Amino acid sequence: MISADLIVQNCRQLVTCRGPIPKRGLALRDVGLAEKAWIASSKGEIIFIGKEKAFRQSVRAVRGAVRIDASGLVGLPGFVDSHTHLPFAGSRVKEFRLRLQGATYLELAKKGMGIQTTVRATRRATKGELLSLCLTRLDRMMLNGATTVEAKSGYGLNLRDEIKQLEALKEAAQLHPVDVVPTFMGAHDIPKEYKTRKGAYINLLMDKIIPEVSRRKLAEFFDIFCEEGVYSVEETRRLVEAARRAGFKIRIHADEFSALGGAELAAEVGAASADHLISITEEGIRSLSRSETAVTLLPSVSFFLMLEKKAPARRLIAAGAALNLASDFNPGSSMVGSMLFVMQLGVYLLKLSIEEALNAVTANGAYALRRHESVGSLEVGKKMDLLLCDVPDYPSLVYELGWNPIRHVIKNGRVVVRDGRRV
Ligand code: NIG
Ligand code: FE
Repeated sequence: MISADLIVQNCRQLVTCRGPIPKRGLALRDVGLAEKAWIASSKGEIIFIGKEKAFRQSVRAVRGAVRIDASGLVGLPGFVDSHTHLPFAGSRVKEFRLRLQGATYLELAKKGMGIQTTVRATRRATKGELLSLCLTRLDRMMLNGATTVEAKSGYGLNLRDEIKQLEALKEAAQLHPVDVVPTFMGAHDIPKEYKTRKGAYINLLMDKIIPEVSRRKLAEFFDIFCEEGVYSVEETRRLVEAARRAGFKIRIHADEFSALGGAELAAEVGAASADHLISITEEGIRSLSRSETAVTLLPSVSFFLMLEKKAPARRLIAAGAALNLASDFNPGSSMVGSMLFVMQLGVYLLKLSIEEALNAVTANGAYALRRHESVGSLEVGKKMDLLLCDVPDYPSLVYELGWNPIRHVIKNGRVVVRDGRRV
């Protein structure tokens, strides 16, 4: 007999998203569905998934074990949000209103607003203020189903304020049940004081900031905005090489507004992920699909910026890309922190099937963070990160819009949201 300290009984449907991971092509359509399933964990690790009879034969509850009756609920893995800009201060609601009057995101950026507005606010904020913002946002994300969240710096754009953001993240990760995966994004933009001296800022990043963030072990990934007017493909390549030498794994904001070839570069340098890709070319699709680089699409950006153009998700899947969906939560292009909504947008805007969207916010999201050995699917030996939803069946997660059906959230074997409330 194996012992369990958490037992979820009789899920009406259990979407496991079990591997092999990453899922590509037709495999993205398989969500590993189980009906009337029992799932149990011990010390945060899944030890059993199966039917009641097998459960009774092989599992025993330890004294004080938590039991949840899920007979009216649908279970699925906690969402993995592989792309967020979590630790920022200030608001861009005024710029949002300018956009509603016809200004575009790039026009605002050219006028010194956009990312620079948030850089000013974030530089002014204290580490404690950023920490409390992160904690509040992580709570909201968790209420909406995220149990693992990547989070980038990139609104400091100098040594002191990048480190402040990353330290706030580190403290948030220690205090909050959600797993936080930290990314250093000092190459998110060119700071205003270096606007006419981009080369000098690149040198500062390479000689000082990258080595210092690495020395302090504040981030696992390095990310960069490869975009017209920001970092060119050649500049990106240099910075990525420096970051790799300093021990970072790589992610790239690629081909978002213009098709510079960031996708091809991501594949070439073996980045863990290439993100955005609204403007990716056929060549870019081919390169990524033949590579191990995850493809991270962010449908809430097209939605939030009201762009006609969307990332070519169907063509990417047909070509064999390891596709996942993330929120890009940030104040300018996606004030969206709900992975449930992102999954729904994956279907409504990018034309994924419901099953593809489910795999894209769970198993393949975990792959994009190279955490797929421990999270993103419900399998024996992985973390007990489970959502229990008040819907009649899993397609209703996409069919029903505009309210939150996530009733309970279990993170690492612990109930962290019960009856829709943070415990
Ligand atoms: O991923 N594209 C660059 N960076 C963010 C937007 C950041 C901002 O506007 O503050 C993004 O969309
Ligand atoms: Fe982003």
